[in-house]
Amino acid sequence: MKLYSSTLCFSFFFSLSIIFSSFSSSSSAALLFQGFNWESSGKTGGWYNSLQTSISDLAAAGITHVWLPPPSQSASPQGYMPGRLYDLNASSYGNQFQLKSLITNLHNAGIKSLADIVINHRTAERKDDRGIWAIFEGGTPDGRLDWGPSFICSDDTEYSNGQGNPDSGEGFPPAPDMDHLNPRVQRELTDWMNWLKTDIGYDGWRFDFVKGYAPEIMGTYIAGTKPDFAVGEKWDSLAYGPDGKPNWNQDAHRGALKDWVQAAGGAVTAFDFTTKGILQAAVEGELWRLRDGNGNPPGLIGLLPGNAVTFIDNHDTGSTQKLWPFPSDKVMQGYAYILTHPGTPSVFYDHFFDWGLKEEIGRLAAIRNSSGITSTSKVNILAADSDLYVAGIDDNVMMKIGPKMDLGNLIPSSFQVATSGESYCVWVKK
Ligand SMILES: *[C@@H]1O[C@H](CO)[C@@H](O)[C@H](O)[C@H]1NC(C)=O
Ligand SMILES: *[C@@H]1O[C@H](CO)[C@@H](O)[C@H](O)[C@H]1NC(C)=O
Repeated sequence: MKLYSSTLCFSFFFSLSIIFSSFSSSSSAALLFQGFNWESSGKTGGWYNSLQTSISDLAAAGITHVWLPPPSQSASPQGYMPGRLYDLNASSYGNQFQLKSLITNLHNAGIKSLADIVINHRTAERKDDRGIWAIFEGGTPDGRLDWGPSFICSDDTEYSNGQGNPDSGEGFPPAPDMDHLNPRVQRELTDWMNWLKTDIGYDGWRFDFVKGYAPEIMGTYIAGTKPDFAVGEKWDSLAYGPDGKPNWNQDAHRGALKDWVQAAGGAVTAFDFTTKGILQAAVEGELWRLRDGNGNPPGLIGLLPGNAVTFIDNHDTGSTQKLWPFPSDKVMQGYAYILTHPGTPSVFYDHFFDWGLKEEIGRLAAIRNSSGITSTSKVNILAADSDLYVAGIDDNVMMKIGPKMDLGNLIPSSFQVATSGESYCVWVKK
């Protein structure tokens, strides 16, 4: 990719447009799957082994990428407090051999794997001579990623010895924040991710808590590792009104996601938290939320769809944590929306397997595939009332969600029902 070599300034914008277009075309028909939940680390026999039995179902549903949990040794079983990054044998999900076997079998089924990259913060192996937990070990004999207190952001005063740079993003109180402005940090983390690709077999990344460091640094990691697909978790609160409900206009929220993607260089996607928040409010009798002031979808998919990953719930918002759950009785309306709309949809393990929605979600995914819906498909919103949302996608698919049965003459007779369920229906051109 030319942008990252020492090209002259005049070619910058030319190269940037190449990156945008090549990225969106290579990933335009991607269908993600979050392959774990908050309890997976406690699975008897190991999660990696257990997931092997799911591969054929994922392939049949047309899943292209599975997001796997953080693989490294961690102070917490779920993996989000990592320490020895190269040590993949101390994970509660299984060991390095089992992980590689899972990734190989996913590849054999045509499915790529995304590693959950947790690099904002890191847990120490030992105390330093001040008695502070600030000696980090990588988990290899040759000292890779063996760091000390000078690698901690200077404003993380609980751990810092004052030698690092100030944090380029938000702090994470439970663990030391790493100084991503330190060139050795950037180089050694890039090397580690490339090791995850070449030695373990991962194809791309899901970045945890990207608010923790500057988007330009994210761009450096993307440029240095060239993932097949990358998505960042930038989770901000929506704007709420005095009634405790989200405001209709969430332009600031989605605008911040767009700004982040672009500041990171454009070759990365962002979870569309805007769409999630609006959609889960909308299905509660407020489907008018699903049309913005310009007549477009109100989430990141209405602004930068090729760089948006839509989802219904994840290990934080749903699962057993339920920090911001989608209404459980309306989840299929959510999937009917994200699986027909632009953006790259991500299906959650719990819904697909534990909730028994494999067939229903699979039918929607098959229609997406056979109709050629991509991350940049065009949406034409025909109704967005309290109890009815109707949209056409790319002129060959129509869909509705909401309880209202009388659609008037919104669906032309040239369309026929392709699938339907509780308060949703999808039509394709005859
Ligand atoms: C997706 O569609 C292509 C052709 O349109 C087909 O070959 C492929 O089997 C489909 N995949 C799934 C999982 O349905
Ligand atoms: C983990 O186990 C594998 C064998 O499965 C071995 O090759 C590797 O060196 C081990 N890693 C560590 C950090 O012990």
